[in-house]
Amino acid sequence: MEEDCKITLNTGLRGVIIANTRICEVDGKNGRLLYRGYKIQDLAKASYEEVAHLLLYEYLPSPEELKGFRLKLAGERSIPAELIAALKTRPVKALPMDILQAAVPMLAHHDPDITESSREAVLRMAQRLIAKFPTIVAAWHRIRSGMEPVAPSPELGHAANFLYMLNGRVPNETATRAIDTALVLHAEHAFNASTFAAREVASTQAHMYAAVAAGVGSLSGALHGGANAKVMQMLLTLGSADKVADFVNAELDAGRKIFGLGHAVYDVDDPRAHIIAPMSKALGDIVGEPRWYEMSRQIEHTAKDIFRKRKNADIPVNVDFYSASLYYYLGIPVDLFTPVFAIARIAGWAAHVIEEQFAGAAPKPVLYRPESQYVGDYCGPEECEFIPLENRKKSG
Ligand SMILES: CC(C)(COP(=O)(O)OP(=O)(O)OC[C@H]1O[C@@H](n2cnc3c(N)ncnc32)[C@H](O)[C@@H]1OP(=O)(O)O)[C@@H](O)C(=O)NCCC(=O)NCCS
Repeated sequence: MEEDCKITLNTGLRGVIIANTRICEVDGKNGRLLYRGYKIQDLAKASYEEVAHLLLYEYLPSPEELKGFRLKLAGERSIPAELIAALKTRPVKALPMDILQAAVPMLAHHDPDITESSREAVLRMAQRLIAKFPTIVAAWHRIRSGMEPVAPSPELGHAANFLYMLNGRVPNETATRAIDTALVLHAEHAFNASTFAAREVASTQAHMYAAVAAGVGSLSGALHGGANAKVMQMLLTLGSADKVADFVNAELDAGRKIFGLGHAVYDVDDPRAHIIAPMSKALGDIVGEPRWYEMSRQIEHTAKDIFRKRKNADIPVNVDFYSASLYYYLGIPVDLFTPVFAIARIAGWAAHVIEEQFAGAAPKPVLYRPESQYVGDYCGPEECEFIPLENRKKSG
């Protein structure tokens, strides 16, 4: 047993397959990504609602079914007045991912299905979360900016509604298509850190909201969903392309990571980056500010060259690299980039929570419970001697 454990010890579970799933396949060697058997390149042509339906219900909807699903989401898009009132009490500097994470259990307080465990009830909870995530993020941004939240529009789809509630203006077709596709590309990615966190919580039979709150917390980290904001901060700090080579060398010399590069699963470029990069270029040209896209390109090529020379290895570009400039072109504030990731990924988390709860891909649900190896002190031959408080001396 100990021999078996050693293989995975302190590896961050890289290369360890821990569960079956019917939701997503990531082929890191060949740069292939499929949601429920469909290639990401094809799904990128679909709307977020179609893809969310695919993830939750396991098939692509017919036009009639899609209409019904859109109506359900439209009916769930508003958030409770109590949640808006609570958001108004938060300090304006609160981090948007903390706000989103805090809002999830508050939504649970208002969910009439919260103690239900049937598949239908869990699916309703999933739809409510998918519908409400953009509303929470947009409402928070307006509240912290001293503005009233904008109510969702029944006329607009999921992606357009987010930009509308954020800016108070109906977005044009190009912006709507860009954010819609970005949401599709980020909707699911198998057992990534946040999905694993959500599934781990769901495996204890905790409810959908508890699992999703864990997912949001995990996504907030810079090595996961936080990378897109870090990429944009890097681009803004650099300001122009002429400093790129010096910057990349200095970062690698200092042993720091360049955000948006590298991946725990892909050995080759992340296929989503290849879809999103031309979208960023097109938007950059439309808004007449191509430099953020061009700098990204230059950093990618320079870092890849330097990496190859130094380490004799390739470093892949990941999805966060070009989503950064894309969101910036869409006028989304940099600290909302990671919440936008969450707005997309909620569909994947929900599908995984359901799969976990109903053992959708495995013979029966399993409580995740790995083991650890104790490497701490015993301060004695086998264990520490317990000294009563009154007799204890200061140790430091
Ligand atoms: C995503 C990430 C955590 C995956 O890491 P991983 O699979 O565990 O790979 P490691 O961190 O062990 O990296 C392997 C080697 O590549 C280097 N490396 C990986 N990503 C790097 C990056 N972005 N910049 C510079 N070097 C990088 C590591 O330093 C390591 O070098 P070493 O072998 O000399 O120690 C890592 O690539 C990273 O931190 N990237 C930046 C953050 C990011 O963009 N996250 C979003 C992911 S979608």
